[in-house]
Parts: sequence; C-alpha cells; structure tokens
Amino acid sequence: MRGMADNTLPVTASAPPVPDALEVIRTRSVVRDYTAEPVDDAAVDTLLEALLAAPSASNKQAWAFVVVRQRARVRRLRAFAPGVIGTPTLMLVACVDQSRVGGDPNLAGAARMCVAMAVQNFLLAAHALGLGACPVHSFLPDPIRLLLGIPGHLKPVLVVPTGYPARDAQPSDRRDKDEVIRYETYR
Ligand SMILES: Cc1cc2nc3c(=O)[nH]c(=O)nc-3n(C[C@H](O)[C@H](O)[C@H](O)COP(=O)(O)O)c2cc1C
Repeated sequence: MRGMADNTLPVTASAPPVPDALEVIRTRSVVRDYTAEPVDDAAVDTLLEALLAAPSASNKQAWAFVVVRQRARVRRLRAFAPGVIGTPTLMLVACVDQSRVGGDPNLAGAARMCVAMAVQNFLLAAHALGLGACPVHSFLPDPIRLLLGIPGHLKPVLVVPTGYPARDAQPSDRRDKDEVIRYETYR
C-alpha cells in the first residue's frame, strides 16, 4: 500500500483519469487499529495538502484544523472522543470556521459539508500513503476545545484518528446500486 503514492501522475487540464486515484477510492476503508510508528513530517505535509485541496462553498474555505501528534496530547484528546478506537499516532481535529460564513445561513450549513469534503481528501491521501484513518463524530467538543485552545468561532465537527494500520482493514458492505441510484428521474 505504501507504494501507491510513488505512481502519482502530474495533474494537467487535459490529463486522463488517473487509475491510481480510482484504486485508492475503491480500496479505502476506515482503520481503527494503529501501530506505534509515527507519521513523519513529509507524510503530514502530503495529508495537509490533500486536506486543503478540497472544494468549498464560494471558495470560503471556512475551516480550520488542528494536527495533534504529541503522544500525551493524543491520549488526552482520545479520552474526550469515545468514538475513537485504538491508539492513533496522529489526530486531526476538523472545525468549521464560523467567522468566514458571516450571517449567511446557507454558507453556514454548507461549511460542515466543506469540512467533510476536506476530511474525505485527507482519508484518501492517508490511504494512498499506506496510512489508515477514521472520521469520528462521537466526541465532546467543549473539553477538546479547552484542551487544544480552540477559540469560540471554530466549531469542531470531526476528529480523525490516523496512523499506520496494525492489520488489514476490512471492507464494509455497501447498499446495492439498484437500491440507491436512479437515472434521469427517481421513478
Ligand atoms: C460522519 C461520520 C461519523 C463517523 N463516526 C464514527 C465514530 O464515531 N466512530 C467510528 O469508529 N467510526 C465512525 N465513522 C466511520 C464509519 O463507521 C465508517 O465509515 C462506516 O462504517 C463505513 O466503513 P468504511 O468507511 O470502511 O467503508 C464515521 C463516519 C462518518 C462519515
């Protein structure tokens, strides 16, 4: 899996679809058990580049992220996130930045989707690098806000435990295509 990143192609306007990207999308699964091997700075840079490449409503990029790698801090953070299973070596806290959406209720609602899209980029980049991660919605935002000094205009919406997988990830079932997709109209 680590080799996947070596085959990336340059992206140009006329570039054909990149098969490796489809392979990464097809084979990603959540990873909830991690080895103790740390995520190095180069890998973190790649993950963050993918994160920030996500689309956002009106290109407001109404988001902010905290990357936590210090072991003691990861453990404290994990204590406030019952949805986190296993002990990751990196945790991403993904927040909506309410100061960038002003009073526009449409943008405020869209900002959560933008953060989710950024997190999906992060999950796919992690998988491409041989890492594993899991989006987690079950956490206590207020203690996490206090622990990390997150100001009031930033609202944590997902935490993402990340690390090298301790075992092969198990693919989850998907609903049948015929059940969830219609063509042209819903009838
Ligand atoms: C918004 C959201 C919240 C989630 N929260 C949790 C969580 O709190 N704990 C957890 O272990 N997994 C969580 N997951 C991961 C899902 O359980 C997982 O994506 C789903 O079972 C499908 O598995 P797959 O991603 O491997 O295909 C969450 C996923 C999403 C999209």
